[in-house]
Amino acid sequence: MIKKTIQLVTIIWMMGMLHAQAQLNKNYSKQRKWWKEAVVYQLYPRSFKDSDGDGVGDLKGITEKLNYLKSLGVDVVWLNPIYSSPNDDNGYDISDYRNIMKEFGTMKDFDQMLEGMHERGMRLVMDLVVNHSSDEHEWFRQARSSRDSKYRNYYHWWPEEKGTPPYRYSLFDVNHDAWKYDTLTRSYYLHYFSRKQPDLNWSNPDLRKEVYDIMKFWADKGVDGFRMDAFQFCVKDTSFPVFEGLNASNFVQFYAMVPPIHDYLQEMHKEVYAKYNLMSVAEGAGRNMQDAHDLVDTQRKELNMAYAFDAVDVSSSPDYSMLKLKKTFTKWDKEFQNDGWLSIFMGNHDQSRVIDRIGNPSEQYREASAKLISTFLLTMRGTPYIYNGDEIGMTNAGFKDISEFKDIQTINEYKYQQSQGGDLAAFMQKNIKYSRDNSRTPFQWNDGDNAGFSTSQPWIRVGNSYKEINLQNQENNPESCVNYFRQMVKFRKDNKVLVYGDYTVVDENNPNIYAYTRIEGNHKLLVVLNFSDVTSQVTIPKAMRVSTVEINNLPTKPTITNNTIALLPWQAVIYKLN
Ligand code: NOJ
Repeated sequence: MIKKTIQLVTIIWMMGMLHAQAQLNKNYSKQRKWWKEAVVYQLYPRSFKDSDGDGVGDLKGITEKLNYLKSLGVDVVWLNPIYSSPNDDNGYDISDYRNIMKEFGTMKDFDQMLEGMHERGMRLVMDLVVNHSSDEHEWFRQARSSRDSKYRNYYHWWPEEKGTPPYRYSLFDVNHDAWKYDTLTRSYYLHYFSRKQPDLNWSNPDLRKEVYDIMKFWADKGVDGFRMDAFQFCVKDTSFPVFEGLNASNFVQFYAMVPPIHDYLQEMHKEVYAKYNLMSVAEGAGRNMQDAHDLVDTQRKELNMAYAFDAVDVSSSPDYSMLKLKKTFTKWDKEFQNDGWLSIFMGNHDQSRVIDRIGNPSEQYREASAKLISTFLLTMRGTPYIYNGDEIGMTNAGFKDISEFKDIQTINEYKYQQSQGGDLAAFMQKNIKYSRDNSRTPFQWNDGDNAGFSTSQPWIRVGNSYKEINLQNQENNPESCVNYFRQMVKFRKDNKVLVYGDYTVVDENNPNIYAYTRIEGNHKLLVVLNFSDVTSQVTIPKAMRVSTVEINNLPTKPTITNNTIALLPWQAVIYKLN
């Protein structure tokens, strides 16, 4: 009897503990944080605004446009790399982490830009590229000069006398071979990206300390966070085992989240993040949901939010459907409803224009679909990231010939296909639609020379659409994409339910309409988005009572008959629910 009672008490106690833990976890995604409430604007400095007429965007150009950024209502600006770089990969190959790229200006220009952002209540997130450096970084120059260099161990080497190193796939190399032979010290060095981007050796504590010092240098200057480039790949198994079956489509499974990456992230957190009020996000969220949680769950003290690729991968696959996109977002939201935090994005500098992937760039539907995409990104749970130009509905560049592309990935893949006797016509067709250069063309300020970006020929040619799609055309039109975007940002700010409320998808299998509720306490919204060229219907649950239309991207109100809502093509509506 006593034994039974003890057993029962133990079980009740354990259930209580589990419940308490679940309650605790439940609170994490509701905990108020500035970086959860922020709207992030990703700005590609090379193509934003050229202030000195050399055809390349620069920091002074950004400073000139700070009032524009402020007018959008965004809180955080994430800048792609602006450090000294020979630009093999547009700044993702850094030769001096404490200096500014010459084409972009000086440290004084940086300080003025940062001050200007802070004065306007905006924060700055820097791109931190520490999976690799440039081969022109002093560390690498020293490392390659002698096997005895004190910097040798900052990188990964395979000495010639050990024979050919086990194959590693390189994303940008013309041969996709990540080992490059270096004659001086008769060794191969590792580069997951281009030959001019040698991978840093994170198992070396000296290297890790250098990185933390660099982060502190910028944090002391006042920057507000870091986006950590390709960070999931930074740790390698330095015994370099053979990776059976490694190839272009599965390399993430071999390269990502190698132990002890979490120890290093916790070390970084202790050394840097815990000491400043910084936002942290790493590019890539690992191989699976567990990896993503391990990066960002609150108690682990690693990073703030995950940046996962599943949704953009769906959108750039030839068999894209909105249904797949919906299922992907819904799956991720469910996984993160209690703990951890997500980034919500569909565009960035590594993707073609979002409207060409999930909207409709035709003249008829361009504006409506651009507004629908803004509605979507700004009503999901997670921190929204908007890529510059998407707020005015910029479309793909319209390049036709390989000579128009500037991106190392596109160019080297073309050369690789050429060397393999690949189908170049198919390659071009794919890249005209999906090359990342599509979103790297100059920001379209007006319909004048070079779209108002520069007084001389830009480093990459202006997109075909600049006469019709440009900011100047839109500024004075209350119905324009940019003004709708401003309205949506404000709506998110005024409705914290869009940040913290639960997300529940409605009519999950509807192939045209993506509908969901966002609910926290009495605050209830229904978002209804018609991702198609035809009038479409969605039936909402009987118990759901819509009241006012809060947002509508078209002048016509949708009809509602017996809880069935009919939306025009690319219509986006937000209802308040009773
Ligand atoms: C990811 C960046 O977003 C991309 O632009 C870059 O080429 C690679 N990492 C290498 O740094």
